[in-house]
Amino acid sequence: MDIPALITVKPWSSCLLLGVLFIFAFVASLSHAEIQFHEFVIEAKPVKRLCRTHNTVTVNGEFPGPTLLVRDGDTLIITTINRAQYNITLHWHGVSLKGNPWADGPEYVTQCPIQPGRSYTYQFTIEDQEGTLWWHAHSRWIRATVYGAIIIYPRFGSSYPFPVPNREIPILLGEWWDKNPMDVLMQAIFTGAAPNVSDAFTINGQPGDLYRCSRRETVRFQVEAGETVLLRIINAAMNQELFFGVANHKLTVVGVDTSYTKAFSTSVIMIAPGQTTNVLLTADQPPARYYMAARAYNSANVAFDNTTTTAILAYKSAPCNAKNGGSNSSAPVFPTLPGFNDTATATAYTAQIRSLHEVKVPTAIDEDLFFTVGLGLINCSNPNSPRCQGPNGTRFAASINNVSFEFPTGNSLMQAYFQDQPGVFTTDFPPVPPIKFDYTGNVSRVLWQPLKGTKLYKLKFGSSVQLVWQDTSIVTVEDHPMHLHGHEFYVVGSGFGNFNPSTDTPKFNLIDPPRRNTIGMPPGGWVAIRFVANNPGIWFMHCHLDSHLTWGLAMAFLVENGDKELQTVQSPPLDLPPC
Ligand code: C2O
Repeated sequence: MDIPALITVKPWSSCLLLGVLFIFAFVASLSHAEIQFHEFVIEAKPVKRLCRTHNTVTVNGEFPGPTLLVRDGDTLIITTINRAQYNITLHWHGVSLKGNPWADGPEYVTQCPIQPGRSYTYQFTIEDQEGTLWWHAHSRWIRATVYGAIIIYPRFGSSYPFPVPNREIPILLGEWWDKNPMDVLMQAIFTGAAPNVSDAFTINGQPGDLYRCSRRETVRFQVEAGETVLLRIINAAMNQELFFGVANHKLTVVGVDTSYTKAFSTSVIMIAPGQTTNVLLTADQPPARYYMAARAYNSANVAFDNTTTTAILAYKSAPCNAKNGGSNSSAPVFPTLPGFNDTATATAYTAQIRSLHEVKVPTAIDEDLFFTVGLGLINCSNPNSPRCQGPNGTRFAASINNVSFEFPTGNSLMQAYFQDQPGVFTTDFPPVPPIKFDYTGNVSRVLWQPLKGTKLYKLKFGSSVQLVWQDTSIVTVEDHPMHLHGHEFYVVGSGFGNFNPSTDTPKFNLIDPPRRNTIGMPPGGWVAIRFVANNPGIWFMHCHLDSHLTWGLAMAFLVENGDKELQTVQSPPLDLPPC
């Protein structure tokens, strides 16, 4: 008569549970892949910088947010609870998310935002990627303070293609406003003028010694003399390419985004918002304290934040007074950084980046795309209006092939596509500019005003795409860091002036070009990429300068389903936020 307690559990649920556990254990034992559960609570917390405290949107009260440490093959389940006053979404920048656009995050593109008081669980697997990536909010300017590193280690049993460093240090470069960044954005949207430039750059959330009220919190990294350190540098700034260097130390670049590169040595790197760079640094200098510093590389003729953020690399064996920064200790050595407009250094640096091994670049091109990217101005009927504070009584805009992207409002593109809802987007994004002109010359004012639209470009599953981004000189030439979601691409060529297919194509590097998710063009120049559209879904592509994204420098690709099961978009998760 004694029935063991276990039997009283509903048999179907225990069977299901055991089955699920068994499958998890089996998969884990095969691949050592892990399933990680995280809870990201989005909430405002007081954060004091530059002498003032702001109620800052954070994840779990941390700024910058938590670092995700994963291995290739791991699955992440991240429950995101919105306790802030703004709509938010999160984006896993550079993670491929095969067949799973629902986890990608850009608001009104793959999902509607998580409203205050609601939650959404992002679930995705890291597949055949290793290196440094990052996550950030992808809803208006929330990402100014909501971001963190994603560090992807090689699978168990494999390692880096360079000697294992003694230490790893993530360096998140950010941008701080002595205001609520959302107010900065709202003001810019109202006036049509450029948003206020930031008040500081930051390293791991701290501005450093050169800013008011910041000295005590300056980030210090301790190293042993002689050891080798892997710096995982992430540009999480909103609107600025940056130069970065460490006084008296050479940096050996070994990876960008999720690609290993042929090692080369440099005293300075240039890194654009959205990009990551892995460098090795050997502590081979006299034991002392050295500044690492970052400041703007400004390729456009516009206002920018010309301040410099610093952190300190401190040798543990440095003389005591130097280590403690006592009043009689000498100040740390400062690195030499290029001038703000040193395009020659930025270009020469970027040109050195090559894949470690030979790679398989698509050669039979199915889609040959040529996209002009640049700023524009919208004319106003009343140029004296408070809403037309851009140059000569206009409003700033930006566009690709003269289309200035407008986000849908009632639904996300992905949901509209999945539910066959008409009227949310069209698929007539032009493969070439509607009018040919001298893109980098003296452009007639008639061509300065783009058209607004929510246009996508359709790609057949598996098609090989060549895409040339051509900067224009409308308003100003500029290095626009272009980011493609859901795919990585090979950067096969770049140059100044107008792209010339007959003379430039033969010079493409089809042997060892770097594989990236974000690349800029030389200001007043072009950059060519190739990729295979092997990820079904709708994938956003945009300039990673958020002021330009706000102005419409974006479009999206609609990659159709293939015929096989794994070539099809998954069904949306049940908790996908309602619109
Ligand atoms: Cu890092 Cu669409 O963004």
